[in-house]
Amino acid sequence: MARLERRLHIQDGEAVASAYNQRRGSATLIELAPSILSANFAQLGAEALAAIDGGGTVLHLDVMDGHFVPNLTIGPPVVASLRKTIAKVPFDCHLMIENPDDYIAAFAEAGANWISVHQEACVHLNRTLHLIASHGCEPAVVINPATPVHMLDEVLHIVHHVLVMSVNPGFGAQKFIPGALRKIETLVQIRERRGLSFRIEVDGGVDLTTVGDVVRAGAELLVAGNAVFAHGDIRDNASKLLQAARGAKAMRA
Ligand code: DX5
Ligand code: ZN
Repeated sequence: MARLERRLHIQDGEAVASAYNQRRGSATLIELAPSILSANFAQLGAEALAAIDGGGTVLHLDVMDGHFVPNLTIGPPVVASLRKTIAKVPFDCHLMIENPDDYIAAFAEAGANWISVHQEACVHLNRTLHLIASHGCEPAVVINPATPVHMLDEVLHIVHHVLVMSVNPGFGAQKFIPGALRKIETLVQIRERRGLSFRIEVDGGVDLTTVGDVVRAGAELLVAGNAVFAHGDIRDNASKLLQAARGAKAMRA
C-alpha cells in the first residue's frame, strides 16, 4: 500500500484490517532480519551488506537509550549513514527507549521503514503507533518476555508486525527464553480468529538450535545478531540460518 494511502487507512481500524487481509500471502513469508548489534561497528556498512548478501531481506537496527534498557547503541545519524550504503532493504528500527514519540520523526527522516516501540515504554500506545504511520513508516509493537500477548488486543489491527522478545532486551548473545514460543502460537491463533494479518517477528537467541522451534511456532520475521555476525563468515551464517528456517517452515506446512 502506498504510504499516503496507508496513512489515511490507519485512521480506521476496520479499513486497515481489510487492507492487511489482502496481503496475507506475504505475511507468512519467512524473512531473516540480521541485527547489527553484534557487528563490528568499524565495518558496519560492509558487514550489513554481507548479511544481506547471505539472504537477509530486512535490516534490524537496535536503538537503546541507557534508560529503558541498560545499554547504549545508535541514533538517527548511524541509520542515515547506513541508508546511504544500503538503498533497498527495509530498515526495521527497534526502539528500546523511553519517550519514543520524541524521536520517531528523526528516525523516519533518517531512513527507517518499520519502527517498533515497546508496549512497556508507551503510556499512549495507540497514539504512538499512529504517529509512526503519520511519518510514512510501518508501525509495530514489541513485548518483553514478562508481558502477556493480551496487552496488545486493542492495537493488533493497526500494526504491521508484533515483535516477541525471546530475551530481555539490552544485549546480544543471550539465551533464548522458551516462553516466547507459546506467545508466538497465541498470536497466530488470534490473527486467524480475528482475520488480521500483522506479521510475527521474534528477537533474541535465534540461532541454528532455536530457529526451527520459532518457525514451527509461527514466527515469520527472524531477527538474529550473534548467530550472523559474531563468528565465522557472515554471508554463510546468514544463508545457513535462513535455509534452516525455510526447511522448518516447509515441514510445518
Ligand atoms: C536485544 C536486541 C536484539 C539483539 C539480538 O535487546 O533487541 O535485536 O541484537 O541478538 P542475538 O541474536 O544475539 O540474541
Ligand atoms: Zn532488536
